[in-house]
Order: sequence, then C-alpha cells, then structure tokens
Amino acid sequence: MDLVNGEGASDELSRLQSHLYKNILSFTDSMSLYCAIQLGIPDIIHNHGQPITLKQLASKLRIHPQKTSCMHRLMRLLVHSGFITKTAPVVHEDQEGEEEEAYALTASSRVVLEDKVTGLSPLVQAILDPAVVNSWYSLGDWFRGTELTPFVKEHGMGFFDYCKQNPEYGVAFDEGMASDSRLMSKVIKDYKTIFEGLDSLVDVGGGSGTVSRIISEAFPHIKCTVFDLPHVVANLPDDKNLKYVGGDMFQSIPAADAILMKWILHDWSDEECIDILKRCKEAIRSKGKDGKIIIIDVVINEEEEQHDITKAKLFSDALMMILVTGKERTKKEWEKLFLDAGFSHYKIVAPYGLKSLIEVYPY
Ligand SMILES: C[S@@+](CC[C@H](N)C(=O)[O-])C[C@H]1O[C@@H](n2cnc3c(N)ncnc32)[C@H](O)[C@@H]1O
Repeated sequence: MDLVNGEGASDELSRLQSHLYKNILSFTDSMSLYCAIQLGIPDIIHNHGQPITLKQLASKLRIHPQKTSCMHRLMRLLVHSGFITKTAPVVHEDQEGEEEEAYALTASSRVVLEDKVTGLSPLVQAILDPAVVNSWYSLGDWFRGTELTPFVKEHGMGFFDYCKQNPEYGVAFDEGMASDSRLMSKVIKDYKTIFEGLDSLVDVGGGSGTVSRIISEAFPHIKCTVFDLPHVVANLPDDKNLKYVGGDMFQSIPAADAILMKWILHDWSDEECIDILKRCKEAIRSKGKDGKIIIIDVVINEEEEQHDITKAKLFSDALMMILVTGKERTKKEWEKLFLDAGFSHYKIVAPYGLKSLIEVYPY
C-alpha cells in the first residue's frame, strides 16, 4: 500500500506509527517500575491501608510541590502497566466534599513489596541497574566483534568479575538472587519427595545460601553445603547442618548425594555446561551412590505455553546474551546437554513460575 496516498493510508500509517512508538519506548514500562520501587511507592500504598490520593502520596514521598502533576503522570503509567489500579474518587469531608482519585495496589504489585518472602524488588533493581542496562548499547558492535559478551565490551570484564570488583553491585545482585530464591520454600514443600533419601546436598553457585537454608530447615538431617566463588561466601557463618565452601565449579565440586543448581546452567554456554555437569557427575558418584542433580532453570516451550510466558522467557534469554555466555533452553536443548555430559535419564518434574524443576540421573 502507498502509505501516503493509498486508500486507508492514514489509518495504516497511524497503526504502524503506534506500533513503532510503542516499541521505541517499551523501556518506559521497565523504568517507571524501577522508579516506583526506588521511591517505595508500592510499600507506601500498602502501609497506608486504604487507597491513597495523589496529594497523600506526594506528601508521604516528600515530592517537590512543582512535581505533583508529574507524579500523576507516573501513576497513570503504572496503572496502564497493571501495577497500580485507580479506585472510585475519595470524598474529603474536611475539604468541603472535594473529590479526588485514589490509587490502590493490584495483584502484580504484591510481588514488588518489601515482603520477606514474595518481594522481588531487589531482583528488579539488580536487573535494571545501569551496569546491566548500559551493556545493551554494546549489542550491535558486539555482534561484529570478538568480545565474549556485550557486558565485557561495555565494562572490560565478565559479569561475575564485575560483581567481585564492584562489591556494591555484587551485593545488590546477590540480594536480587536471594529474593527470587525465597519463593523456593513453597516448591520445596510441594516437592518434598525430591529430597527424601538424601543425606547430603551441595548447592552449586548457591549465592548467599537462601535455597540451602530453606532445605536445611525443612530437612534437618541433610548436610547442606553452599558452594560459590570465595568472595561470595566469605564471612557467611555456617549454621547447624548448613555450611559455606568457596571454590570454582570449573575446578572441582564437593562430593554429595545430590547437586542442586538453581539459575546456574543458563549462565553458561553448552560447552561450559557440559564441563560443569561432568564435574557434578564426579561429585555425586564419589559418595558411592548413584546420586542425582536437581536443576531449577527455564525450559522454553513455545508450542504449549502462553504467549506472555514465552515472551518473558525470551526476554530472559536476551538478558543472558547481554550478560554472560549462557542462554535459556528448550527441552530438546536440555536433553542434548544431559546426554552429551554422560547422563542417561532426566525428568522435568514440574514448572514453577517461569522456571522448571528438573532431575538428572547418571543411570
Ligand atoms: C545467577 S546466580 C544464581 C544464584 C543462586 N543459585 C540463586 O538462584 O539464587 C549464579 C551464581 O553462580 C555463582 N558462580 C559464578 N561462577 C562460579 C564459579 N566458577 N564457581 C562457583 N560459583 C560460581 C555466582 O557467584 C552466583 O552466585
């Protein structure tokens, strides 16, 4: 169609322009959420105990008086992205019946509250940190160059080295991971049988040990070891059946009945994953039992899952391309990894949020 003079051209042109504008500015959804969390808006509304008016919100946030109307615009965006809802106008008896719109939380905002179990705001802040977001600008040049990742092109070092060299971001990243791991308590309760019969477990790349702590409390007879890079586990105190060991999983992995890897293999290329899996195999076999590996990671299943779920997984895959050498994998790609690493059986036990619980056995 001639987009200038053709019949229906102006409708078609505005449709195409809207599509383009929406894509140019899609990051607005990410950044307005980041700002809302930075200002603590979801928690302020939650603690208010009832829908909050713009004036009340502006006063609690100590917004500069000239910026209250801008706050209205931020809230309007958050309403559109589904994190806030607008309620019926509140009537102020003390202000001659003046009516004002009020804002309340939606179900989606519950996961960005400063909640000790379900709150994911540290994850949002870690992923939308400038160190991560700026690396996107290197993607185009990275495709033509030889650097390992766009992150390396931007920062001159790999992601995990950057976490070590920049402890402020390193801690924020570990907190982001821990916030996601706290949600594991439900999974561990629902899939107890996975841990039955185990006497020991090593949580490879276990970060600050959130998942291991949940397992060690649910199964006091299992000796749990959190294994991560030395600077990550330095100064973390052992506790009853939970201990921390520093090391490099590409060198060797402590022996145990089972190895747990949550959000580990998606950080690494196929070759690197095969290397890790082979070391896991040595670690579980050295106990004299057959042992198993428990993996918690994304499985892309485009044919069967909802479009929005696949989209979130593809976004995560792109994030892996930016930050590390890894990727999100389909069932077929996981299977190939396991077979190439010398494992003969695996079972995708259940999906949990965007991730799945996978068991891998040597025999
Ligand atoms: C994406 S995080 C996952 C953390 C944790 N499993 C979770 O889901 O909350 C990856 C972890 O792998 C660790 N890691 C990276 N390289 C490692 C290595 N060579 N040896 C051991 N751990 C490593 C990082 O320090 C980080 O804690």
